[in-house]
Parts: sequence; structure tokens; C-alpha cells
Amino acid sequence: MIQIAVLGYGVVGSGVLEVLQTNRESIDRRAGKEIRIKYVLDRREFAEDPVSSILVHDIEPILNDPDVKVVVEVMGGVEPAYTFVKEALLRGKSVVTSNKELVAKHGPELLQIAREKNINFLFEASVGGGIPIIRPLNQSLTADEIYEITGILNGTTNFILTKMKEEGLPFETVLKEAQDLGYAERNPEADVEGHDACRKIAILSSLAFGMHVDFEDIDTEGITKISQVDMAYAAKMDREIKLVATSKKKDHEVWARVSPVLLHMDHPLSNVHGVFNAIYVKGNVIGDVMFYGKGAGKLPTASAVVADIIDAVKHLQRNIMAFWSTEKMELLDIRHAPAQYFIRIAYTDVKVAMDLVENLFGKVDFIQLKEATDEIGFITNEAIENELIEKIEKLSKSTGIKEVRNKIRVE
Ligand code: HSE
Repeated sequence: MIQIAVLGYGVVGSGVLEVLQTNRESIDRRAGKEIRIKYVLDRREFAEDPVSSILVHDIEPILNDPDVKVVVEVMGGVEPAYTFVKEALLRGKSVVTSNKELVAKHGPELLQIAREKNINFLFEASVGGGIPIIRPLNQSLTADEIYEITGILNGTTNFILTKMKEEGLPFETVLKEAQDLGYAERNPEADVEGHDACRKIAILSSLAFGMHVDFEDIDTEGITKISQVDMAYAAKMDREIKLVATSKKKDHEVWARVSPVLLHMDHPLSNVHGVFNAIYVKGNVIGDVMFYGKGAGKLPTASAVVADIIDAVKHLQRNIMAFWSTEKMELLDIRHAPAQYFIRIAYTDVKVAMDLVENLFGKVDFIQLKEATDEIGFITNEAIENELIEKIEKLSKSTGIKEVRNKIRVE
């Protein structure tokens, strides 16, 4: 029998207990050993819950107990998770985590400790909820040189954008629903400002390119500026607005970003709705591979955590290699990367505005909505980001233009 400890009894933690209980027999069979939870750590009391018989409020009994072979960290946040996880690894206990903040910030160091101790630090649930993506990058796509990863990596924002579009609901109402469903982070700014997706693409890029991609270097923009008017333009252009995280490698240069993107309907990510996430990976040998599933929520995330627990139990005292060195990867400044934008401008005279736009951006197609009578939209041609931003600045200062109301990337 293998004893484990679960740190955190929130949405994911309670899901882990539920999955281990529901599929107990098949899980034990697959692990080759019985897996039993000896401790659950949480600051709170859960008087009416059977968990109270194994609940502790202090990490020490867990760290000091030689019977605990695997520690499952599902608390979230960098501290105290980092201190607990590092200490557990140093004491020879494998760690499974769903904590993307922890993995993005300290992943290479924690992987190195696990390697030195011949144990494991596993984090499948940190990206894409229930979707297997870490294991494929580490173990299945290793024959390839990966040159692009693009994905919808945040369930909350995808849920919000889908509901805003399909039900015309306001942003705040849908965010509240995502929180009630357990999708959103404790501080939902992490979701809606793109920080969560940023950490996830940093993790995937680090694994794909083998060096440490620092999430703080990734250009990140959230969905808070997306309005129902933008949605109406998107529909008119036969496009979907999605929060897309991407990293691309070309000639040894890597650039990465997170931002809302207007995707054409034939783009594989345009049909990913609600809490679903999808990630496509491009490799020089395999071509395109796509992964799809529920990206947030109690049971999908717990499913990935428990799969890692099984792997940790199957590989006690045998490190599963992950290719993510502590060496930092310098990213190409996004301002030098190619870009294309949809831009909406409010005008005083439409003819003057259209001439100004075409003088700056060359020939473009204009889009006008019946319901937005004082503005017009257009899509630029592809150019280097810097040049486009300069032109948008110039446009916003031109006589005849009242304001640039929004700019959204196009792919
Ligand atoms: N808040 C995250 C999301 C949870 O919405 O995707 C899963 O990482």
C-alpha cells in the first residue's frame, strides 16, 4: 500500500478525493498498489465532512512521516506551496501538483531536485485541466523539433467569450457563473487579464523548447476590453474572438504572447467553446497534433492529478525525465514579430476616415455595422507589430478620427 497526502481541500483537492474514491479499484489495479490518503492539509475545518478524520493544519506531520511517499499539492499560489513542495522533494517524497503558478515560477528547480533524488515532480493538471498535454510533450512528441504551440488555455475566459457571444450576456454575469462553477481563479483577474494563460504557455514552451521560458517575458493582454460591439463585428466577419496563447520558434528565435484574437471560422480553435481548451502543437516530423478537452473544473482537473499520482506510484525511486533546463530562453521582442489587426475607429466624416486609413495601411476592406453608425472597422495587412502600432497611433491623432475604439489581433 502507498500512502499519500493531499495539500489543499478546495475545488481540486475535494475532486481528487472523489476520483480516488469513485475509481478506487481500477486506480489501484493500474498503479499496481493500493493508494490511500493518510492526510489532507487545509487551514479550515470541515466539521460535517468525513475528511475531518484525516485533516491536519500543519505540514510537519506530513513531511516527517516516512510512510507518505507522494505529496499532492492542490492549494494554488506560489507560497506556501513552494516551500512545502520543495521540502517534500528534499525529503524524498514525489510531488504531484496542479499549480501552474508554482510550476511556471519554480518548475526547473523542482524538476532538478526530483532528478537528483530519483523521484518525480509531476504537473499534468497545471495546463489544460483534464487534457493530457504535459505527458505528450515529455514522452510522445520527443522525436520532433516543435516549432509552434498555440492554444486556448483558459477555461474561464473561453466560457465568458462563448456566453457573451451566444447568449448576449454581460461580462460580469458570466464571470460570476464561471466562479460558481469552480473554473475561475481565486483572484479572477488572473483569468481575465490573461495571466493564467500566460503561465500555461510558459510551461508548455519550456517543455517544448527545453529551456526556461520566463512567464514574465511574455506579452500578455486579457479580454476585459472585448465588448458586444466587437462580438457583432466578429460575427459580421465570420470570425470568433478567442483568448489565444501562442509561442513560435523560427530560426532559433522564439516569441510568445497571450491576447484576444479574431479567428476565422475555419481555424481549428474557433470551434472550441465554453470551458473547453484546445492546444495544437506543430512538429517538424509529425506535422500538426491537436489536444482537446475540459480545461477547468473539479473533476477534469482531478482526473489529471490522479493520473499523475498513479504515475508517481508506478515510478517510485525512478525519475521520469522532463526536458526543461534552468537555462533561461531569451524571447524575441514581440514588437519585432509579425502581426495583423482588426481596428475600429469612430469618425466625424466617413470618407475622410477611409482615406486616412488607406493612406496609412494601404488597401483594406472596411466593415460597417448597421447598429454602430459613427464608426467603421477594417483589417490591416500583415506587418511587423512595431510598424502597425505606430500607424495606429498616427491614425488616432489624425483630424477626422474621433478615437480608435479597439484593436484586436487577427489570424
Ligand atoms: N482558472 C483556470 C481556467 C483553471 O479557467 O482555465 C484551470 O487552470
